[in-house]
Amino acid sequence: MEIDQYTTYFPKPGKQNTLEAISLALNRANELKIKDIVLASSYGYTAKQIVKFDLSKLNVVCVTHHAGFDKPGKVELTDQTKKYLQKHGIKVYRGTHFFSGVARAMRTEFGGVYTGEIVANTYRTFGEGMKVCVEIAIMALDAGLIPYGKEIIAIAGTGAGADTAVVVKPAHGKRFFDTQIIEIICKPRTW
Ligand SMILES: Cc1cc2nc3c(=O)[nH]c(=O)nc-3n(C[C@H](O)[C@H](O)[C@H](O)COP(=O)(O)O)c2cc1C
Repeated sequence: MEIDQYTTYFPKPGKQNTLEAISLALNRANELKIKDIVLASSYGYTAKQIVKFDLSKLNVVCVTHHAGFDKPGKVELTDQTKKYLQKHGIKVYRGTHFFSGVARAMRTEFGGVYTGEIVANTYRTFGEGMKVCVEIAIMALDAGLIPYGKEIIAIAGTGAGADTAVVVKPAHGKRFFDTQIIEIICKPRTW
């Protein structure tokens, strides 16, 4: 059966698109009966925006930056924000970024370019948010926070907030190329 489904293109990337990106994503989740939502949130802004919606039937996972992303030993999403999100039923996951991992350490130490970052930059030809959507979906699956083999919705942005949402069936990191990006719900048109 053919499906007519349109992508919303935001004129510019960025935080100003957050509420609309979330709203489009949750509408599509409802239409497709998708229960699992994974979103990127560095400081908690996007995660706090999703709390404004009815999440009662959803499994919402907030993937945040790994400790030390900005400053060694420091986290960006505070314990207070984490507790607030958990109180609203949102799971918060903090772990090594799938595409960066050891590749970023290699580049920093020796220069050059390594596989993880090549894959990441290829996704970036669709915009930053697309790269992040795939990355956080895999991280959430590898953390055991979403079910295997199911379509989920991932929401991410460009530096801050959200401007991209996709329906994706992530694979575990070790089988990364089995990942399927099924629908692009919204993304910035230019950047
Ligand atoms: C694991 C992870 C990786 C990210 N990678 C990038 C990236 O490569 N490029 C980018 O523009 N934003 C990146 N982001 C930012 C997110 O796409 C999103 O805009 C941000 O986390 C929202 O944070 P906020 O809710 O505190 O505003 C990343 C975020 C996370 C959690």
